[in-house]
Amino acid sequence: MEVQPVILNIDKMEAYNFNTMETMDWKNLPFGYQKTDYNVRCYWRDGNWGRLEICSSEFIHMHMAATCLHYGQEAFEGLKAYRGADNQIRLFRLEENAKRMAETAEYILMQKVPVELFRDAVIKAVQLNERFVPPYGTGATLYVRPLLIGTGAEVGVKPAKEYLFLVFVTPVGAYFKEGFKPTDMVICREYDRAAPLGTGHVKVGGNYAASLLSLKKAHDEGYSSAIYLDAREKKYIDESGPANFFGIKDNKYITPRSRSILPSITNNSLMVLAKDMGMEVEQRQIEISELSTFEEAGACGTAAVISPIRSITDPQMEKVYVFSKDGKAGPVCQKLYSRLTAIQFGDEPDKFGWITIVEPTETNTISKYKMELKEIMHSVAANVKNYANKRAKNKTK
Ligand SMILES: Cc1ncc(COP(=O)(O)O)c(C=O)c1O
Repeated sequence: MEVQPVILNIDKMEAYNFNTMETMDWKNLPFGYQKTDYNVRCYWRDGNWGRLEICSSEFIHMHMAATCLHYGQEAFEGLKAYRGADNQIRLFRLEENAKRMAETAEYILMQKVPVELFRDAVIKAVQLNERFVPPYGTGATLYVRPLLIGTGAEVGVKPAKEYLFLVFVTPVGAYFKEGFKPTDMVICREYDRAAPLGTGHVKVGGNYAASLLSLKKAHDEGYSSAIYLDAREKKYIDESGPANFFGIKDNKYITPRSRSILPSITNNSLMVLAKDMGMEVEQRQIEISELSTFEEAGACGTAAVISPIRSITDPQMEKVYVFSKDGKAGPVCQKLYSRLTAIQFGDEPDKFGWITIVEPTETNTISKYKMELKEIMHSVAANVKNYANKRAKNKTK
């Protein structure tokens, strides 16, 4: 599919984030939303994807009967852009996110976003917000959130005829501000995140709604995450909150095979690295009782890469499985984490072809517009200051 040139859709009076590369507090960024300059949008209407639109508004104008609001026709993705020591910006395995979004779309009868369109939109969103890609060495990254929603109005339960594909970005802080430390997790037996033949294997918003209560309970009880079990038998490990689970023993990397877990791109990459490090990789069912045999355990996903697990408590069975007695991450977790992050930040060669370099954009309409807008804002600020000074002088007269 040929991607059409962009359309500018810029609202000059939108709140402008005046922070610059120099003034942002990169080291203390939370893992939360921050306004950036632009997002990129594309609409499916009358049987076609339109042109990419560059948008400065953070809001979506949408019909109240849109299917995403009523019937959960919503898919999203999450990936990151990393700034290297060489100042180059790298995206990690974005085609995998594109494919996963297409699989999600197919499963809930949404219009699929072609891989080229996904790629183009993600790259454009990063280029346009280049000033928000955190500096190398801060551990912070630019989180990229592609979103696909049914915007067509329907009242009966059926798929929409119109869709919006949108990509926004936001800088996020390092996941482990206090260092790469294992945390405690808890097995969840009261709730299921996904049904055996449900939507657990695709990235739809409904799965996350289904996990909110159990995750809140786990957090309230002092655990960093909930471990979900297979919904049918409550016998096997499924996932660890919004991350895949893995265990290490006898030089093996073992991770669950289940239809109700999301195929994690991080997990897939860790399996490749584990093999590369001479380990055996097993993707199979993991019975809860097998937890007692693991030397190390971790949860993995884009946000943290690896969250090493110190212990897993099974309250109903009154059991605690401990993986780290000294409170430190095990050597395998440590090594896998270092290798994967080294590839992502460009410290290690991209031996597996996982990286896309985001080329810098030339001075174009957008950056000209940015300069213009800054000048306007500065002159407004100067006028306000002048006015305030004049008033203050008049008062003292
Ligand atoms: C339910 C769930 N499992 C696993 C993952 C990890 O996937 P990835 O490594 O592709 O970020 C995510 C995050 O997207 C998730 O939401």
